[in-house]
Amino acid sequence: MGKIILSIAINVFLLMNTYVSGSISFTIVPETQYVYINDTVTFKCAINVTQFNPSFVTNPSDVGSELSSTGMASLTLTATSEVNGTEVTCKVSNGPTTEPAYLYVQGPPDSVSSFTGYQLDSCCMFISWYPPFTLPGLTVQYIISVGTDQQYLNDSITNYTYCPMNPTNKQYLFNITTTNKAGNGSTSNITVGFQSTIDVELYVTDKERGNVNWTFHFIVSVHQFCTNVPPLMNITLKGCTKDNCYSITNVSISNSSYNNISLVVQFPSNKTLNTNATLYYQNGVTAQSNTITI
Ligand SMILES: *[C@@H]1O[C@H](CO)[C@@H](O)[C@H](O)[C@H]1NC(C)=O
Ligand SMILES: *[C@@H]1O[C@H](CO)[C@@H](O)[C@H](O)[C@H]1NC(C)=O
Ligand SMILES: *[C@@H]1O[C@H](CO)[C@@H](O)[C@H](O)[C@H]1NC(C)=O
Ligand SMILES: *[C@@H]1O[C@H](CO)[C@@H](O)[C@H](O)[C@H]1NC(C)=O
Ligand SMILES: *[C@@H]1O[C@H](CO)[C@@H](O)[C@H](O)[C@H]1NC(C)=O
Ligand SMILES: *[C@@H]1O[C@H](CO)[C@@H](O)[C@H](O)[C@H]1NC(C)=O
Ligand SMILES: *[C@@H]1O[C@H](CO)[C@@H](O)[C@H](O)[C@H]1NC(C)=O
Ligand SMILES: *[C@@H]1O[C@H](CO)[C@@H](O)[C@H](O)[C@H]1NC(C)=O
Ligand SMILES: *[C@@H]1O[C@H](CO)[C@@H](O)[C@H](O)[C@H]1NC(C)=O
Ligand SMILES: *[C@@H]1O[C@H](CO)[C@@H](O)[C@H](O)[C@H]1NC(C)=O
Ligand SMILES: *[C@@H]1O[C@H](CO)[C@@H](O)[C@H](O)[C@H]1NC(C)=O
Ligand SMILES: *[C@@H]1O[C@H](CO)[C@@H](O)[C@H](O)[C@H]1NC(C)=O
Repeated sequence: MGKIILSIAINVFLLMNTYVSGSISFTIVPETQYVYINDTVTFKCAINVTQFNPSFVTNPSDVGSELSSTGMASLTLTATSEVNGTEVTCKVSNGPTTEPAYLYVQGPPDSVSSFTGYQLDSCCMFISWYPPFTLPGLTVQYIISVGTDQQYLNDSITNYTYCPMNPTNKQYLFNITTTNKAGNGSTSNITVGFQSTIDVELYVTDKERGNVNWTFHFIVSVHQFCTNVPPLMNITLKGCTKDNCYSITNVSISNSSYNNISLVVQFPSNKTLNTNATLYYQNGVTAQSNTITI
């Protein structure tokens, strides 16, 4: 009887020894995972022998809940800041151990860096930035706010061209907020000075010199570079002799002749006049023409 037991024990020992010394291999090895905070993470492990149960070893220990069945094990845990960097290995009791895998947790993203901007052309501004560091395989989005406009951009994009509907000569404030599945990150801002360009040319097509007045036929030729231009409110023509200046404002401007505005103006002087035109737009932008001497 004693012999038999001993014999069985030796056989079991030999059997185990055989498996343990190299004939067990892992068919699934835990892999390093990069996840967002609060995500549920599962590490899996399996061996090619069903007689044994692999199990997980974590460092720091006691994280997550482990499920083990013959030849397989899984470790499930919730990603928190506390488990960030946890080392996970899978082992077979008295047998082989896997290389360690790690768990890394991503919170809301850092802010962008090198946020800069400038006026691109007479209609648009251009801003650019560098993405914040994020864990491999995870993404970040950008929320750009300027005035009441807001734009979400994916992380492959690191620049943005903004062409305001109502280009105004002022400082535009741009905010950029980083965001990901874990929430909004940090907001950075810059201001970009904007100066709209409108070319205005003043021509005289006809003139009549009276006893006390000049009567001029002007063409005001307007060239704007942007399609998003607000309505023109009025045109003021200013004429200066060497002694006096006269201002005449025309408020009835028909939109049909928007780019070539025809005006008839009388100045109460018949002396030589230096004349120019100022265009006033609804959004406060003003444009100044050349000065002509008549
Ligand atoms: C398990 O894998 C090892 C190494 O590849 C091999 O030597 C062994 O025979 C396999 N065992 C079974 C039961 O498939
Ligand atoms: C987790 O660790 C990584 C690497 O050290 C770090 O980049 C990341 O910000 C950490 N995450 C949290 C939520 O602390
Ligand atoms: C930009 O952020 C500041 C706070 O940092 C806020 O006061 C402002 O309203 C934001 N501007 C836009 C256009 O979102
Ligand atoms: C941003 O990326 C998501 C998925 O990564 C995609 O569904 C979406 O269409 C993208 N948005 C833009 C504006 O490219
Ligand atoms: C802006 O970003 C795009 C990719 O989204 C890139 O192709 C382009 O070169 C960038 N432009 C500048 C001026 O950096
Ligand atoms: C993560 O979960 C906790 C508890 O459920 C919650 O208070 C917290 O707001 C969550 N954080 C994120 C970034 O979703
Ligand atoms: C994230 O930031 C954007 C822009 O500031 C804001 O509109 C949005 O409501 C924020 N989302 C959360 C969940 O705070
Ligand atoms: C812009 O960001 C700076 C910090 O970089 C902050 O002090 C300032 O209040 C922000 N300005 C606005 C208008 O949000
Ligand atoms: C200009 O007006 C003065 C009177 O103000 C007049 O004497 C003179 O003849 C006028 N010149 C011409 C060219 O009409
Ligand atoms: C011309 O337009 C400007 C800008 O809207 C306004 O401030 C000004 O009062 C106007 N002038 C007249 C005479 O209507
Ligand atoms: C001269 O012009 C003014 C307005 O600019 C006008 O009131 C006046 O009647 C004109 N006089 C003559 C003689 O044309
Ligand atoms: C023409 O415009 C300039 C400013 O650009 C101004 O100083 C001048 O008084 C205007 N009028 C004349 C008649 O030159």
